[in-house]
Amino acid sequence: MTKPVVFIPNRISESALALLGERCEVDYRDIEEKLDDESFFAALQQADGLMVYSRHKITPAVLDKAPRLRIVSNIAVGYDNLDLPALTARGILATNTPDVLTETTADLTFALLMAAARRIPEADRFVKDGQWNEWRPSLMLGKDVHGATIGIVGMGRIGEAVARRAKGFDMKILYHNRSRKSDAEQSLGAEYVTLDELLSRSDYVVLMTPFTPDTEGLMGARELGLMKKDAILVNTSRGRVVDEQALIQALTERQIGGAALDVFQTEPIPKDNPLLSLPHVVTSPHIGSATRETREKMAMKAARNMLAGLFGERPENLLNPSLLP
Ligand code: GLV
Repeated sequence: MTKPVVFIPNRISESALALLGERCEVDYRDIEEKLDDESFFAALQQADGLMVYSRHKITPAVLDKAPRLRIVSNIAVGYDNLDLPALTARGILATNTPDVLTETTADLTFALLMAAARRIPEADRFVKDGQWNEWRPSLMLGKDVHGATIGIVGMGRIGEAVARRAKGFDMKILYHNRSRKSDAEQSLGAEYVTLDELLSRSDYVVLMTPFTPDTEGLMGARELGLMKKDAILVNTSRGRVVDEQALIQALTERQIGGAALDVFQTEPIPKDNPLLSLPHVVTSPHIGSATRETREKMAMKAARNMLAGLFGERPENLLNPSLLP
């Protein structure tokens, strides 16, 4: 029996590669940068399975060039890069990598929250630029995290992991979600509120929703206007959950205290984006799940999903379950 061909256009862990290599022919590109379109589409022609990070948008036009494709294994929890209805209509399985990145992404979310609260990047620059000539009583005054109110918009797995960290900091936890989470209410003392109430009561507003048509532009001018004047917006979900122009305006006009952002409307963020020159904005380059340990686990999970899909089993993280009995 000929082995199925798995196309992987970017670097993954060696153990995941070895696992796939036991049962598949792997067309692997050991590169960090994005493969050029010509090579990508040439390889896609032969692929039974495709394993990608979310930088690759899998649209109907891409699928038109993938005549043999049976499964797309996304190495990410978010899957807004996949046109799921188009994949399903063509009978192509789609999978993602939840759970293994939950704690790591919650760590980064909290790191950004604290960095913005205590002005860490600004303080670091200040010291290294040789500006620290004397200690002053009001030098780099920040905002307390402990005892403050955190509002988590989207109480899924990562939202709950952020809430657990917040509990350790003695924070009051508010959340807004499509459904009530009684476990989180009982174990963390989280209080379910409307989005408007969350925005007006929170010192830190943390966005943890997936990107869907319902959450696109969820944080617009009106919502930002409901936040406290010194509140900080933290976004490690997807950039387009926020109306970025409205955020720039809210920060410019000091309607809110600051923002800590790992994700942006356009990534990489254009170098002339005003967010990059506004004070009290902390940024990182979409690295929520970027630790060595977690990238390894994500690649292994994506490889197992791939093998299951190719060899007639049900992948653990199937996104279009209607395709399998
Ligand atoms: C990263 O953004 C992911 O969705 O895993």
